[in-house]
Amino acid sequence: MAQSKDSLWGGRFAGGPSEALEALSKSTHFDWRLATYDLKGTSAHLVALHAGGYVTTDELAVLNKAVAELTKRVEDGSFLPKATEEDVHAALERGLIQIAGSQLAGKIRAGRSRNDQIATLIRIFMLDAADAIEAQVLDYLDALCSQAENHIGVAMPGRTHFQLAQPVLLSHHLLAHAWPQVRNLQRLEDWRKRANRSAYGAGALAGSTLGLDPKLVAEELGLNGVSENSMDATSSRDLVAEFVFILSLIGIDLSRISEEVIAWVSFEFGYAILADEFSTGSSIMPQKKNPDIAELTRGKSGRLIGNLTGLLATLKGLPLSYNRDLQEDKEPMFDSFDSLMLIFPAFIGMISTLTFDKERLEYLAPKGFSLATDVAEWLVKQGVVFRDAHEITGQLVQFCEANDLELDQVSDEQLVKVSKHLLPEVRKVLKVSGSIEARNGAGGTSSSQVIDQLVALRKLAPHRRV
Ligand code: ARG
Repeated sequence: MAQSKDSLWGGRFAGGPSEALEALSKSTHFDWRLATYDLKGTSAHLVALHAGGYVTTDELAVLNKAVAELTKRVEDGSFLPKATEEDVHAALERGLIQIAGSQLAGKIRAGRSRNDQIATLIRIFMLDAADAIEAQVLDYLDALCSQAENHIGVAMPGRTHFQLAQPVLLSHHLLAHAWPQVRNLQRLEDWRKRANRSAYGAGALAGSTLGLDPKLVAEELGLNGVSENSMDATSSRDLVAEFVFILSLIGIDLSRISEEVIAWVSFEFGYAILADEFSTGSSIMPQKKNPDIAELTRGKSGRLIGNLTGLLATLKGLPLSYNRDLQEDKEPMFDSFDSLMLIFPAFIGMISTLTFDKERLEYLAPKGFSLATDVAEWLVKQGVVFRDAHEITGQLVQFCEANDLELDQVSDEQLVKVSKHLLPEVRKVLKVSGSIEARNGAGGTSSSQVIDQLVALRKLAPHRRV
């Protein structure tokens, strides 16, 4: 079998690759997505080739026009890779040869390798992808803030170990889901500093003998600098793994609130109802209204973790420098990005249209003796040692359970019977609003603290959605 004329590497081979190898090797079905990024890389590389004296000013003009024309054809779908082409790079070289001729277009490969090309392309793709993800996270933060703003002052049961623990404001609970996403935005910001480097100039691994200036390529691509080590440049994918990790964390945080939404909209909880637009029915049970968005989000977060662990496993044990295994970086990264971009619009819609049942939340807030900590802390303020205060309050709870009473239903006589320290004044802390407002330390659930949180969050995530 003869080597295909579409190949970038036929010269030293007497025969072409087997069909089985071609099928395994081919990446156009996923790397074609990087075609316009590869063309940007080519424009930038041309600047370096021109500065190095390998392309004249006239040739540069012709080649730039060819790159622009090919970009147009790629974007409008009139230029596509052929079935026989191995990867995006081979297909685009053919496209440039078709437009500018092989004498001119044949110059472009000088001083670059697919190895430094792909390492750079994936970074500029991810930098754009990070912009898109950040916009979604900000929309989501806006949805959480709006719900929090609309429910200032509404109490709900706060839980630990999924058991009723202490009353909190619904806004406080909702905003507890905002801060992890703020940290994810910070993570992306920090990752950008590292991802913002060009691998061009590394060649296949050791650098190029042509004396091209890699900084020119980086500048043209809008990147901040050049990789410090050419072998690291082409063989590391930690930046891809880190990006996929941050996307996994974003998904995991969405999955955690999904779990809660699923509980909240159940009959037993009855905290909230889903909007028709953002819930689904059952094909057999006519009464059902299901939280499929939350479930799909929870499900897809497993897939995001899978993409990350798969990629880490690919990297583990790879010797320097480039190995073809590295081709396996792209599909998990694309999949994590696409999954989040699919999840977010539906998820944001679901969160912003949730209707909370305020009466039920307020009714449940003091249940499960959730004001017991307030009693213990009231005793401490009266001079009782906390260890004793904890014990006394525990006995009060036991008394209530035995007599089927809530804390605020115990009479003055019954209170002093449990302990001489339990004076009638303790009643003033047996109110949900008092309990909440008393938690006024930084980050606490009191309404003024929650409003401070909202102000801080709104600085990061102003109103964005109409
Ligand atoms: N498709 C390859 C990848 O994604 C591009 C680089 C191929 N290099 C090579 N020497 N075969 O990593």
